[in-house]
Amino acid sequence: MILWTIVIGVFIKFFITGQTIPSADNRRAVVLSASEKDIVLGEMRALLISLNGILKGLGNDDFKAVSIAATAAGSGMAADLNPLLMAKLPLDFKTLGMGLHKDFDQLSLDVKNGMTKDQVIVRLGEMTNKCLACHATYKIESK
Ligand code: HEC
Repeated sequence: MILWTIVIGVFIKFFITGQTIPSADNRRAVVLSASEKDIVLGEMRALLISLNGILKGLGNDDFKAVSIAATAAGSGMAADLNPLLMAKLPLDFKTLGMGLHKDFDQLSLDVKNGMTKDQVIVRLGEMTNKCLACHATYKIESK
C-alpha cells in the first residue's frame, strides 16, 4: 500500500513536472534527446510559418489563405507526437501548447464564419501571448 502510494506519487509528480532542470538564464530546461529536440523545434518553426501565412493572407484580404494557414498549426499538427516525448514535457507546457493548437483551429473556423481583419489581429495578439509565456519559462536542452 505504502509502496503504491509512492509509485503513484512519483508518477503524478513526473506527469506534472516532466523532465526539467534549472538553467543559467532562470528558465526551466526541458531535457530531451537530440532527435526529440529537433521534432519540437521543427514544430516551432511550423508555428512561425503559419503565423507568416496568416499575416500574408490578411495583407492580401485573402481569408481563405488565412484559414488554411491557421489550420496548418491546429491540433492536427500535434496529433502524432510520440507519447514518450509528451511525458517529458511539463504539464503546463503541454497545456499551453495544446491550447495554442486549439486556438489556431478556432481562428480558422472563425475566419470561415466571417471574422473581420481587425478581429483577427486582436486574436493574434492574444494567441502570441502564449508563445511569449512559454518562451519566457522554458528552454530545451538535449542530451
Ligand atoms: C508550450 C511552449 C511553447 C509555446 C506555446 C511556443 N513555443 Fe516556441 N519554443 C519553445 C521552446 C522551449 C523553444 C526552445 C527555446 C530555447 O531552447 O531557447 C522554442 C523555440 C521556438 C523557435 C526557434 C526554433 C528553432 O529552430 O530554433 C521558434 C521560431 C518558435 N519557438 C516559435 C514559436 C511561435 C511563433 C509560437 C506561438 C505561435 C511558439 N513558438 C509557441 C516553446 C514554446
